[in-house]
Amino acid sequence: MGDVEMKKIGILTSGGDAPGMNAAVRSVVRSAIYHELEIIGVNRGYRGLIEGDLAKMDASSVGDIIHKGGTILKSSRSEEFKTIEGRKKAMKNIEDNGLDGLVVIGGDGSFQGARELSSMGIKTIGIPGTIDNDLAYTDYTIGFDTAVNTVLDSISKIRDTSTSHEKVTIIEVMGRKCGDIALHAGIAGGAESIIIPEKSWEINEMVNRLNQAQKRGKLHHIILLAEGAGSAVDMKQELAEKAGIDARVSVLGFIQRGGDPTSFDRILASKMGVYAVELLLDGHTNIVVGIKDNHLFHMGITESLEVKKTFDQEMYRLTEILSF
Ligand code: ADP
Ligand code: F6P
Repeated sequence: MGDVEMKKIGILTSGGDAPGMNAAVRSVVRSAIYHELEIIGVNRGYRGLIEGDLAKMDASSVGDIIHKGGTILKSSRSEEFKTIEGRKKAMKNIEDNGLDGLVVIGGDGSFQGARELSSMGIKTIGIPGTIDNDLAYTDYTIGFDTAVNTVLDSISKIRDTSTSHEKVTIIEVMGRKCGDIALHAGIAGGAESIIIPEKSWEINEMVNRLNQAQKRGKLHHIILLAEGAGSAVDMKQELAEKAGIDARVSVLGFIQRGGDPTSFDRILASKMGVYAVELLLDGHTNIVVGIKDNHLFHMGITESLEVKKTFDQEMYRLTEILSF
């Protein structure tokens, strides 16, 4: 395989953590060792790169982590790294540690950071890790499937009590720009209404929907609301003011970012980690890996960030047919 100059690589996790990041770290570390590369772990993402918080890893550094949520390398958001001075400090640590390549596991912000570093001379590759599934170039990001299953588990529990008490419950889930968590968990959990940032909605329509359901005798109703489409607390207030409906609110919050990764996320992470190391060995830089129609592929970071997310109209249509 290709580039003989690649001898030592670094790995970091950055931005919002996601279940399956550990499986990806394990995969990168083990495949680096398989290919006789030295592997250095950078703690706390770009912040650690600036502070020089780097340590050599070996096969046992990643033992017993495939099943764990979070990231053993820790993660951060670094404002300093967004400045040229910050990136120069990071680059000095990269050079002082003799790194030839760097694997960055994170979301679109982290990929922009990797692109900046590649323009300064280090070979970089991004692995998509974020629960939101908001990277349009890939069908799936690591962590999304686990987050959907976490939300699904909550919907099932909330459905029990909401049915017993014949209540309307608004469940707010994560997803600032992308409604994929709400859409997928909502369909799997049989939510009566799903509200996502990609589709405009009106409180009056929701009131009509609830009134019609009540006329048919269905008093319990689960509304799955993506945070990017509004706040559950505001919606509760509006429903009370406009229609005297006393809705309950459950904001699921950070439980969605933790927990044991599903088999899907572990396998995706394992595949992407091995692929990323092989691409670095082949001399690639400034690229990301992704999965499309169950096939791994790679593309330029800039190109990947320019891909516009196409809204899954067919998936949404399911909610219109099945949820009432
Ligand atoms: P995510 O990677 O999950 O999208 P962020 O958007 O918070 O999370 O990005 C993670 C980190 O990547 C930021 O804290 C910052 O250090 C770095 N980053 C984000 N955008 C840029 C940018 N335009 N240039 C350089 N670094 C960036
Ligand atoms: O990882 C993405 C995300 O989970 C968003 O959906 C959410 O709004 C955000 O991170 C919150 O994370 P933090 O408080 O770490 O910025």
